[in-house]
Amino acid sequence: MKDVNTIRRKVENIKGLPTLPGIVKKISEMVVKPTTSAEDIGRVISSDQVLSAKVLKLINSAFYGFPGRISSVTHGIVLLGFNVVKGLVLSASVFDMMEGKMVGLWEHSLGTAITSGIIGKRIKQENPEEGNEAGLLHDIGKVVIKVSMPDEYEKISKLVVEKEMSMFKAEKAVLGMTHAEIGGFLAEKWNLPQNLRDPITYHHSPHRARIAPKQTAMIHLADILIKGIGHGQGGDMWIPPLDKEAWQILKLSKKDIEEIIIEMMTVEKSPVSTKGEETEPLEVLVEELEERFKMVTSDPVLMEIKEIFKKQLVLKEEERQASLETSVSETFQDKK
Ligand SMILES: [Fe+2]
Ligand SMILES: [Fe+2]
Repeated sequence: MKDVNTIRRKVENIKGLPTLPGIVKKISEMVVKPTTSAEDIGRVISSDQVLSAKVLKLINSAFYGFPGRISSVTHGIVLLGFNVVKGLVLSASVFDMMEGKMVGLWEHSLGTAITSGIIGKRIKQENPEEGNEAGLLHDIGKVVIKVSMPDEYEKISKLVVEKEMSMFKAEKAVLGMTHAEIGGFLAEKWNLPQNLRDPITYHHSPHRARIAPKQTAMIHLADILIKGIGHGQGGDMWIPPLDKEAWQILKLSKKDIEEIIIEMMTVEKSPVSTKGEETEPLEVLVEELEERFKMVTSDPVLMEIKEIFKKQLVLKEEERQASLETSVSETFQDKK
């Protein structure tokens, strides 16, 4: 087991992300100046070809749902605004790393970001898109572990698979600390704003967030819901405990949760959408759902959320059957 300072030193010396703070810092300074134009920021980003390619890739991903391709960073800034693009610059560097080595984690992060946006709209949060960056970066600590502590990462993964231990507990067992704390160190080192630092550090203990408790609660719940739907791979498949304080902050009714889940499942162009996907038989889907919730069966709220997921799975299956029947009867009519 390592002490906190050893981990902190490791995070401080992490290779692979060293140029990140410079450009993010520069852009952060620029966006607060009233005289800065979209072209100015576009120019700074474009001066780094690799970075601008990554930013463009993100802008053009299904994430923002633009119908056409956006070919210049400046155009993206005009459409999305300064702050969103600033966050994208940051996320883009992380994205590249996850895309290559941790595709499942990237999908999980993207899904968390989208879900946090859906929750944000529901609770009428101002600027719900601000949750995007927090969602994309919340598990950044897992990237740090995988990249800079590969041996420990192996041990953690082994505990998850062999002992059915949650990733969170396995990290504590192997490192003496979690990806949330490690991500928090990194966020501190990068000088990220507190509304990003809090969700990264406290998304598994949102009652400890002091500066951005709502944002943190949104990411906490989004993380649970995206795992509930079974999208992406956050390291283990099991739903983590729901934090009571976070749940109270969000003040969501059963109907709200139902509508959030429906939106997650149907939102067009979202990577979370299950529309048109080839699916497993219903029994298998329900079995997988039960497995995902098996560590939290004593929590009545999470059990209710599980039932909502189950109901949606049944409804989707009925819809699928109905459309199959229609297409069969149409085929017969064609032959007449
Ligand atoms: Fe996490
Ligand atoms: Fe997560």
